Amino acid sequence: MTTRNPGAVRMVELDATDAHLWLPAALDVYVTAMNYPRGTAQQRYPLWREHLHRPGWRGVATLSPAPDGPVDDQRLVRRDDNPIAPAPEVLTGIAYGYPGGASQWWNQQLRQGLARVGYTREQISTIADDYFELTELHVHPQAQGQGIGQWLLTRLLDGVPAPKVLLSTPEVPGEENRAWRLYRRLGFVDVLRQFSFAGDPRPFAILGRGLPL
Ligand SMILES: CC(C)(COP(=O)(O)OP(=O)(O)OC[C@H]1O[C@@H](n2cnc3c(N)ncnc32)[C@H](O)[C@@H]1OP(=O)(O)O)[C@@H](O)C(=O)NCCC(=O)NCCS
Repeated sequence: MTTRNPGAVRMVELDATDAHLWLPAALDVYVTAMNYPRGTAQQRYPLWREHLHRPGWRGVATLSPAPDGPVDDQRLVRRDDNPIAPAPEVLTGIAYGYPGGASQWWNQQLRQGLARVGYTREQISTIADDYFELTELHVHPQAQGQGIGQWLLTRLLDGVPAPKVLLSTPEVPGEENRAWRLYRRLGFVDVLRQFSFAGDPRPFAILGRGLPL
C-alpha cells in the first residue's frame, strides 16, 4: 500500500509518557473534526488517558507548520520543552488504537451485536478474539482532503501483529463522507451495520479488513 507525505506535514509516533504534550491538541482536533461541543474534550480526556495504558497501544499524529496569525486553540504544540514539536507547528491529525480484548466495553458490545444478528459462538470468536481496534482517527477540517487521514491510518497499522483491524464509524446516508470513502478505498468491509452502542442512539457501522493492508 503506497502512501505519501502531503507537503510539509510530518508524522510523529506518539509516546504515552509524553501525553501531556500532545493530548490537549489531539482532543481539540477530535472535537473540531467531529463537530462536537467544546466541553467534549474535557469529558473524553480521562478515557483517552486510560486507553494509553492498554497493552499494545500505539498512536501517530501529523504536525503541520503553524498558520500565520494567532492560533486560538489548543493545537499549537510547540513548547520549548516539547521534543515532538521543536518548530511552531500545529497538530493536524491523530490516530490511535490497541489490540481488542474481552474485558473491553467495545469488544463486549461487538460480541453482543454479532449475537443479536445470529452469529454462532464460533463465528463470534473468529471475528472478536484477535484484532487491532482503530479507536480514533481524526484530521482537522482545515487539513482534510490532502490524504493525511490515509497516511495516518496506513502508518498506524504498519507492523501491527494482529490478523485484522476493526473500527466503528457513524452511519451516514449513502456512505457519503470522507471517513467512509477512506475506509472503502482501503478495502474495509462490513462487519455490522446499523449497530447501536449502549447509551448512544446513533447508528454505527463496524467495519474491518485483514492485515497487513
Ligand atoms: C475521516 C478523516 C480522518 C479522513 O481524513 P482526510 O485527510 O480528510 O481524508 P483522506 O486521507 O482520505 O484524504 C482523502 C481526500 O484527499 C484527497 N487526496 C489528495 N491527495 C491524496 C493522496 N495522495 N492520497 C489520498 N488522498 C488524497 C483525495 O482526493 C480525497 O478527497 P475527497 O475526500 O474529497 O474525495 C477526516 O475527514 C476526519 O477527521 N473526518 C471527521 C472525523 C471522522 O469522521 N473521523 C472518523 C470517525 S470513525
